[in-house]
Amino acid sequence: METGLGIRQENLKESIIINPETNEKIVKKGDLEFPPRKVWMKTFGCQMNHHDSERILHHLKDLNFSATSELDEADLVLFNTCAVRDLSNNKFYSQLGEIKHAKKKKNGLIVGIGGCVAQTEGKELVKKYDHLDFAFGTDVIDTINDMVFRVYAGDSKFTINSWDRSENFSIETKISHETPQAFVNIIKGCNKYCSYCIVPYTRGKERSRLKNEVVEDVKKLVEYQGVQEVMLLGQNVNSYGKDNGESLAELLIDLDQINGLELVRYTTSHPYDVSDELIAVHGSAKKLSKHLHLPVQSGSNTVLERMLREYTVEHYLGLLEKLRKAQPEIVLSTDIIVGFVNETESEFQATLDLLDSAQFDSIYSYAYSLRNKTRAAKMVDNLSDDVRGERLRYLQKYQLGIQEKIRAKLPGTEHRVLVEGFGTMGGIKKWRGRTNCNRVVHFLPESEEQNLKWNWVDVKITSATALSCQGELLNVHGRRVLQ
Ligand code: SAH
Ligand code: SF4
Ligand code: F3S
Repeated sequence: METGLGIRQENLKESIIINPETNEKIVKKGDLEFPPRKVWMKTFGCQMNHHDSERILHHLKDLNFSATSELDEADLVLFNTCAVRDLSNNKFYSQLGEIKHAKKKKNGLIVGIGGCVAQTEGKELVKKYDHLDFAFGTDVIDTINDMVFRVYAGDSKFTINSWDRSENFSIETKISHETPQAFVNIIKGCNKYCSYCIVPYTRGKERSRLKNEVVEDVKKLVEYQGVQEVMLLGQNVNSYGKDNGESLAELLIDLDQINGLELVRYTTSHPYDVSDELIAVHGSAKKLSKHLHLPVQSGSNTVLERMLREYTVEHYLGLLEKLRKAQPEIVLSTDIIVGFVNETESEFQATLDLLDSAQFDSIYSYAYSLRNKTRAAKMVDNLSDDVRGERLRYLQKYQLGIQEKIRAKLPGTEHRVLVEGFGTMGGIKKWRGRTNCNRVVHFLPESEEQNLKWNWVDVKITSATALSCQGELLNVHGRRVLQ
């Protein structure tokens, strides 16, 4: 059987042999031997890309690769790229340049690029950069081992960026870590085609996994891999299930029944697809996070129209009102694009007004960045990058003022937190965790020896600024919440 890579399936059969001198495991695939090797991987972009990278590393274990953070140790270098804004592109290009020297220093080093830039520009990049061996798109990551095999078999300078056209989107979550948090991809692609956005071109058409498959997948993660918190992922998770007559609201209700699962988050949402059923679930589902990230992009109806966002500011604010009514403790955050094509002063002012009305707990904000292929790229744009930069800085400062006031109310409140690790605050090492509503809290351990990583603890907030919260430890519940 052909694999689509020009390699016959029979050749890919794997077996494991042990080197009697070193006792090392060697994977045999076809005629090739794979002794233990190291992969260095750099991931840019969103959580979906990070999730994909984890999946890639998981597959590569079968070819005897283990991950390293030391570039000098690497036999295989992989970039998982992001194309959403110029800045993310530029970071990747400068690192790709540096790898050229690493390749000169180490004979046999293999370099590949995957992700969103590779999906649309892989072919040109492989041609342009001598030190690039192969490129692969976003829909073929599960064949990474076949691609790496192909390079070791002596065939390089190829690009694979085909779309998976099979009827159902069906995968099993693969995690390569041993932490209680896991990303679970429930829908891929995006059909929205917002006029500024490259994602539909890099991730393809929307396709959802079946609800039962996701539920079984999460049950297994909880039962066999100690997962307690899942982040459901998709470019537009609210569209989940439309292709199969199912819905995100129904999925969340089912996940709420899983014993041992403590917390469910999801990202990212599009306001157009937030249904009344979903809002109701925010009030009723016990395990659903009390945080929602709901990108608005602009507070001006004329800008939203040019962005092809399919909702008005009034509709958006109406959604926030309904969500807050259904779940009074809900904490909201958003994405804003400043300086979209021909944005006027008054359109910009409307976004500042929206920040006042919406009272977001935090925002991600970006200056508009032209992306080739998108509809906005064809619009004549008279706004300068200087103005965009100025407006972005102004908006960020404005929001910090709002956040400071919201967070000034937090001291004295108590929260259940999953401890994620250490952070350094003013030179002092403190534990760091996230509240159910996604605020990061730092707090001191009770003693030097105390190891709280991945424990559930209760903390009381003692002080808060616009960007961080300090707390004191009240109780330690261990690795599971006490029921
Ligand atoms: N699917 C999500 C977000 C995808 S990209 C949604 O629909 O909201 C993440 C964020 O990057 C977007 O929310 C947007 O704020 C920003 N973004 C996307 N394209 C951009 C561009 N061309 N210039 C600046 N910011 C952009
Ligand atoms: Fe991009 Fe819009 Fe799709 Fe989000 S919904 S990924 S912003 S096209
Ligand atoms: Fe970037 Fe692709 Fe994610 S463009 S934001 S890595 S979907």
